[in-house]
Amino acid sequence: MKHFITAEGITRGELERLYSVADDIKRNKAKYRTALSGYIIATLFYEPSTRTRLSFESSIQRLGANVISTENARENASAKKGESLEDTVRIVQGYSDMIIIRHFEVDSAERAVKVAKVPIINAGSGGGEHPTQGLLDIYTIREYRGKVDGTSIAVMGDLKYGRTVHSMLKLISLYDGVTVYGFPVKGLELPEFYKDFLAAKKVKYIECKTFTDIPKDVNFIYQTRVQTERLEDPDIKIEEMILNKANFARFSDNTYLLHPLPRVDEISPDLDDDKRCVYFNQAHNGIPTRMALIYTLFRDFYNIDLK
Ligand code: NCD
Repeated sequence: MKHFITAEGITRGELERLYSVADDIKRNKAKYRTALSGYIIATLFYEPSTRTRLSFESSIQRLGANVISTENARENASAKKGESLEDTVRIVQGYSDMIIIRHFEVDSAERAVKVAKVPIINAGSGGGEHPTQGLLDIYTIREYRGKVDGTSIAVMGDLKYGRTVHSMLKLISLYDGVTVYGFPVKGLELPEFYKDFLAAKKVKYIECKTFTDIPKDVNFIYQTRVQTERLEDPDIKIEEMILNKANFARFSDNTYLLHPLPRVDEISPDLDDDKRCVYFNQAHNGIPTRMALIYTLFRDFYNIDLK
């Protein structure tokens, strides 16, 4: 693997090798402390971020590399003066050995790769994909269930612009016997492209009309916020989507609740103490998975023996 710009660009074997590295990183953090010392990695963020940017920058530093960063590139970098993404990549790759990009356009990562001479990681491309979030989501599923084959998962909320859902579904489709229940906000249904994608991969996709259509013993619920910044009319009602102590009680002891975060109102804080609610731990899995990805791309792109 030389770049990571879409969740479609990885095989099951590559994903499992990456998770073995992530497992090793979790067990032996100290071993990786200087793995990438002397390298510089750039984070170029054109859209807001807390978890993704900070967990990437933490991962970079935990691998011993240095980071250079533009946190609000749309306003504070040359994009504001009219520079194209391609030109920015051409410049920044002269200052760094890898570029991690979050951008508001769906095709941004593909465009960056076309001119790139260093590995590129897509940290979120508009309403399209967010493949590294998908990596940590599946890693979390694997952690709580012990395996991913045979998983049932209900995806709720904004399935249209929720890019984390898109990437997570592409990755989970690498596994066998997966069933996905969709419970979208009205008007924010899963795009046909993803329904066709799942069908082609033999993943069952069942759309639920009401909340109670989601089976009580589903393995995971993946809640999402409405991506109001991508909507012309952001005034969308989500009352029937809100998860709280009362309505979550109908699920089994082994139904875990995931959310890519940030949450707004769609998960009531009264659920946070429930041991089935694992979204904070899910976010923390961003560290071993992103460290494993950066490490693997360096090894493959530069053909260097890191250990
Ligand atoms: C998500 C994103 O940016 O797509 N956040 C994240 O990276 N964990 C989800 C969101 O913003 O709703």
